[in-house]
Amino acid sequence: MLKSHNCGELRAEHVGRAVTLAGWVNRQRDHGGLVFIDLRDRSGVVQVVADPAHAPQAHQVASEARQEYVLQVQGVVRRRPEGRVNPEIETGEIEVLAEQVVVLNPAKTPPFYIFDDSPVDEAVRLRYRYLDLRRRRMQRNLILRHRVVKHIRDFLDARGFIEIETPILFKSTPEGARDYLVPSRIHPGKFYALPQSPQQLKQLLMVAGFERYFQIARCFRDEDQRGDRQPEFTQLDLEMSFVRREDVMALTEELMVGIVEDLSDRRLLTKPFPRLTYAEATARYGTDRPDLRFGMELVDVSDLVAESDFRVFSETVAAGGQVKGVRAPGCATYSRRQIDELVDLVKKEGAAGLAWLAVGEGGDIRSSFAKFLTEDEVACIVERMGAGAGDLLLFVADRPPTVAAALSALRLELGERLGLCDPQVLAFCWVVDFPLFEWDEEENRWDPSHHLFTAPMEEDLPLLDTDPGAARGQQYDLVCNGEEVAGGSIRIHRREVQEKVFRLIGLDLETARERFGHMLEAFEYGTPPHGGIAPGIDRLVMLLAGESNIREVIAFPKTGQAADLMAGAPSPVELWQLEELHIQIIEDPDQLDNGPLHTGEGGR
Ligand code: AMO
Ligand code: AMP
Repeated sequence: MLKSHNCGELRAEHVGRAVTLAGWVNRQRDHGGLVFIDLRDRSGVVQVVADPAHAPQAHQVASEARQEYVLQVQGVVRRRPEGRVNPEIETGEIEVLAEQVVVLNPAKTPPFYIFDDSPVDEAVRLRYRYLDLRRRRMQRNLILRHRVVKHIRDFLDARGFIEIETPILFKSTPEGARDYLVPSRIHPGKFYALPQSPQQLKQLLMVAGFERYFQIARCFRDEDQRGDRQPEFTQLDLEMSFVRREDVMALTEELMVGIVEDLSDRRLLTKPFPRLTYAEATARYGTDRPDLRFGMELVDVSDLVAESDFRVFSETVAAGGQVKGVRAPGCATYSRRQIDELVDLVKKEGAAGLAWLAVGEGGDIRSSFAKFLTEDEVACIVERMGAGAGDLLLFVADRPPTVAAALSALRLELGERLGLCDPQVLAFCWVVDFPLFEWDEEENRWDPSHHLFTAPMEEDLPLLDTDPGAARGQQYDLVCNGEEVAGGSIRIHRREVQEKVFRLIGLDLETARERFGHMLEAFEYGTPPHGGIAPGIDRLVMLLAGESNIREVIAFPKTGQAADLMAGAPSPVELWQLEELHIQIIEDPDQLDNGPLHTGEGGR
């Protein structure tokens, strides 16, 4: 080794010890006489002192060293002089008096400071990711990620799970996004698809008798990017045989509690994790991934305003819509401009407007609509909303999905503004009893709301024939602070149920056999009842690290435009490469025959 110790491990107990260190120049300060270098390696930073009177050669080299030079330093650990102790850093009691300094490699001036975590334009960070990764925040995040994955492996190994790798070059595994396709050279005109998840393979591993499987699995989905979405991401994918939904949920919950309590300094809000049905979650929070760090629940006032003279409300209710509201505590003094911002917010979610009512400190009412209501109606609304002096009430009248979307966005915005989203708190909850299907208005057919292998609730099986929209799936999502952290289900293990689902989503048996013949065939050879789940590792680590974007916990992420700014991917390729693959680039897709461009089946 070129070093005897790590920079960050030196303490007072090492005083008097001769050490050899190697690392990067975090900062260099030339005080005329003495030169101070903060030498950094992965373990931390230690102060090196080069004294011209003590070691002139070491001082000469140190005085010429610049930021990010790679140095090897031989010296002796000594206690810092009185008044020079730095309690901010762990090595702050000591310093290393240099005997010899060697430049292992000089460095160009980096495009941003490594030694502090001051904000840097993200495009620059991603372009020079290897430098960004030297910064403390990214080191901390990736080390945390490593610990999480190790914890998962140990936890599952101790419970009899086997880690099995599944192929990356596979056939389309629909999870609702577009596939990334890989052309085959050996089979011209044919394509592999990168897995959106190992869903089919893990089910086949249950048919294969492994009973308990897991994998830290890379998944690929060509979908619009957001802060919590990347085109390639990592799941803990797991599957178990002979289980009910309770078994998978209990195991996952134990794993999550262990990860939070052992590896993070964040506080679990409630344990065991509360459970909400899909219907409850959407009614109370307007979303199936509620942020439970704060209340501010949606309240239905439709019945109170159905007969009122405020036509926006009464006509909406008459047409089968809803009027719901949220109470923003202490916001009664909001100015018109502040309220207008909230109006714009709900309009972005498709609402036609936002009606508001402020209860002043003296109980006086200021409102955009109260003048159309009787005093009695106003009093009933105020009471139903639980409003007191100083509160602002905000209402949306519309079709239920629009009301939900608008008020959910409003609730989150207010939660943020009012400082109710404490990043130190992790509020997990389970959401269960999802509808098995969602109606696809454009395609005029049912779509699986999870994926097409999710089993219906036993008692809802008859509904597949009579009222598919009312059938619930044996699905469970784990939600934390408004993020979907994991999704899973008990699977269909009987062929006739699977075929019924194919039919409902408009897949005729022939097409289904073409795409999933291997699954259907496998199901005929004694398939155990089975189910599983897949927590998103990137999202989980993001929450544990207190970050708000999964890029901060991925070593080499893509941008929002799905590009790698460092290597420059995606990139053009040589013509001969395309020729080998029998591929021609057509600039204008309108020249193509109008085959179906997207056969979107699959759910989310
Ligand atoms: P699902 O599609 O719900 O389920 O995905 C599981 C979890 O993976 C994470 N996730 C993502 N993370 C980052 N970027 C993305 N683009 C992205 N998409 C999903 C989320 C999500 O909860 N095969 C099923 C699992 C099962 O049924 O066992 C599946 O993939 O945290
Ligand atoms: P208008 O009748 O358009 O002047 O609207 C009167 C008030 O009702 C305004 O504050 C509007 O923002 C609000 N409003 C309009 N449409 C809706 C709606 N669908 N839900 C809630 N409030 C609305």
